[in-house]
Amino acid sequence: MKVVCTVADLKKEIDSQRKRKLSIGFVPTMGALHKGHLSLVEEAGKQCGCVVVSIFVNPTQFNNTNDLKRYPRNLDADIDMLKQTACKLVFAPSVNEIYPEKDKRKFDFGKLETVMEGKFRPGHFNGVAQVVSKLFDMVKPDKAFFGRKDFQQLAIICRLNTMLGTGIEIIGCPTVREPDGLAMSSRNKLLNEAQRKNAALISQTLFNAVKKTQTLSVGELKKWVIETIDKNPFLETEYFELVDDENLDPIENWEGKFNKTGCIAVQCGEVRLIDNVKF
Ligand code: PAJ
Repeated sequence: MKVVCTVADLKKEIDSQRKRKLSIGFVPTMGALHKGHLSLVEEAGKQCGCVVVSIFVNPTQFNNTNDLKRYPRNLDADIDMLKQTACKLVFAPSVNEIYPEKDKRKFDFGKLETVMEGKFRPGHFNGVAQVVSKLFDMVKPDKAFFGRKDFQQLAIICRLNTMLGTGIEIIGCPTVREPDGLAMSSRNKLLNEAQRKNAALISQTLFNAVKKTQTLSVGELKKWVIETIDKNPFLETEYFELVDDENLDPIENWEGKFNKTGCIAVQCGEVRLIDNVKF
């Protein structure tokens, strides 16, 4: 496994893999790797001859400077973890390498960015689109792998990919959870012991909510989820929304054949956690 930090070195390595006729699978990350990230690397290894992982804490997607400052970083540990996987090439650039000048591009995702994360983290998805479009252009992968844990991000990336006409195949991968159900996240490392224990209530409540669709209306169910979580002194719900998977339109009732997902953001002390389940 090689580690490169500049775009020039990245391109050299990718060219040599291409000459060997290997397909490129790309897994973009912000590091502080866990088994959720590694599941994407494993899937990329199954589908592609060469797996490239980027590790870059992208400043333009943080709408809160404190969140950016506290975001966990541990490149050496990340590299050690990736050595045990199918990853062939790690790209760990500096901020200057990705943004030699300020990126002023504004992407328009329409309604996709006006709900949930888009509403509560203004500018977040524009920053994600800036970095992912640059990384796609640098790596030029055949396939790129993203987690369904970030359900709305995956929808935005699919739209971005279509808008850019890259021809890259976007693969969505299942959410990997801790034994108590908490969705794995780099931010879990910032929880203290009591917060970590109580955070398990988030996914447990979502899974219990799925069982209540026969007896509760959409409105009642949303109320039940929020009340159940907010009763816990460590947790405060920012939003819980039921949306149509296709267009992320909030749904008002259970009728209609479309696929539905329940998405939640919860503040646990200083740490913001998100999760989602299929309904
Ligand atoms: P990051 O939070 O590091 O996540 C990198 C990838 O890992 C994303 O596709 C995310 O959905 C996936 N992932 C995270 N936790 C997961 C879990 N528990 N199970 C399965 N997949 C999981 O998402 C980002 O970074 C950034 O926004 C990025 C796309 C890299 C752009 O900066």
